[in-house]
Amino acid sequence: MKLIKVTFEEAVPHALDIAIVSVSDKKENEVIKLATGQKSLSVGAGDLEKVNRRKLIILFRKIIFLAKAHKIKKLAVRFPDFDFPNIDDSKQDLAELAAISFEMANFEFVKYKSKPEDGWDFVEEIIIVTGFRDKSIQEGIRVGQIIGQEVNRCRELANTPGGEMTPVLLAAAAKNAVKGTKVQVSVLGKKELRRLKMGGILGVAQGSQEIPQFIIMEYHGAKPADKPVVLIGKGVTFDTGGLNLKPSDYIYEMHMDMSGGAAVIHALVLASRLGIQKNIIGLIPAVENMPSGSSYRPGDMLRTMSGKTIEVLNTDAEGRIILADALEYSKRYKPQLIVDVATLTGAAASALGQHASAILTDDPNLEKMMRELGEESGDYVWPLPLWEEYEAEVKGTFGDIANVGKTKYGGTITGGIFLWQFIKGYPWVHIDMVPRMTAVEGEYLAKGAAGAPVRLLIKLLERV
Ligand code: BES
Ligand code: MN
Ligand code: ZN
Repeated sequence: MKLIKVTFEEAVPHALDIAIVSVSDKKENEVIKLATGQKSLSVGAGDLEKVNRRKLIILFRKIIFLAKAHKIKKLAVRFPDFDFPNIDDSKQDLAELAAISFEMANFEFVKYKSKPEDGWDFVEEIIIVTGFRDKSIQEGIRVGQIIGQEVNRCRELANTPGGEMTPVLLAAAAKNAVKGTKVQVSVLGKKELRRLKMGGILGVAQGSQEIPQFIIMEYHGAKPADKPVVLIGKGVTFDTGGLNLKPSDYIYEMHMDMSGGAAVIHALVLASRLGIQKNIIGLIPAVENMPSGSSYRPGDMLRTMSGKTIEVLNTDAEGRIILADALEYSKRYKPQLIVDVATLTGAAASALGQHASAILTDDPNLEKMMRELGEESGDYVWPLPLWEEYEAEVKGTFGDIANVGKTKYGGTITGGIFLWQFIKGYPWVHIDMVPRMTAVEGEYLAKGAAGAPVRLLIKLLERV
């Protein structure tokens, strides 16, 4: 995964192998050959007065997609004054957004494909042509490329098939990802999980040949006394549903059920690479959810680290069970904030479609901040209620808390309410990222993992 080489010029170079990119107020894109022999790429942005941050992200990505479609490797992008009338962000901010978007659009999961004879279509070089020199633009590009790179590494990890990304291999991937950074990784195995009485993680894992892992990542960017932010990521490396086996149409893509874990791993790496002055902990409970003679069963009671029992009514609601133990574990850090990221419920996509992750929190200020940071980062989020009225859904009959709701309604809320029972009283937000697990048509991202919500997490870490 090579970064695009980005340089700056005051005028478009004459070389023939460089295509000249300009942004037009037309709807259509145009690729024409100029009299000079150079190619010209005109990218339609529509009414330039109406270009906002959201549209700009798409526009930047479109440039890369268009170039790839025409096998153009080098681009000279004209940004005369690096400014859009409807956007009041700084030039550095816009440059960062451009670089993130370029990198994200330039990624494809090709690890398992043979290289075509004439090579891949990736863009290799971008020359930014501005009328003036500005250090802040260069800084924005530098930071943006690092963010884009870690988002793409997260996508690569999430896309990796289940057989090659088991809990043990996920732990190894975390250790590999932190190389050269200040992040430290330690991994708890079955014995330690038993000692900690993490009956939730052990219960979900017991049907699989793959042993569970509890991945702990630590980054110290501030004084030791500073309370950390804890990020928790669901790390189900393959979710068959267990004995409540998923129907065949629904089992596809379940190797991506560790997308939350992948996002947490790369958010920590990113925080270190950017030198964020915060203490950050990453926790990833990693298991495979498999049916077998040793599986946990509907009706089983799992005693979690908190002491509360979970009444398993459906083995396919496994994510919340492993997160219950991780939430309990997070308390030992006396965190300033806990964020969990999980592909928890299909109902989140039913509620929101595929353009925003669901967030649930009992802190209105945190909710507001998350929405703002979602807009800023491009990892859009939308709130659902976390109210005590919903708690009846998860009241256990024979155990403390049931792992599915009594009704078929509001599945994402039920998931959030379940988690809340294990973390009430702590500053916490739950991100159900099922809607954003994979990229959708029209957003100019390659098929597969979308890399959410790495961009949001890094903005959050910068802000709190
Ligand atoms: N991993 C799934 C959620 C999911 C669905 C992820 C679609 C990506 C795409 C989760 O473990 C699950 O199975 N959830 C159940 C919950 C239900 C049993 C209460 C669901 O969404 O059906
Ligand atoms: Mn499941
Ligand atoms: Zn799952």
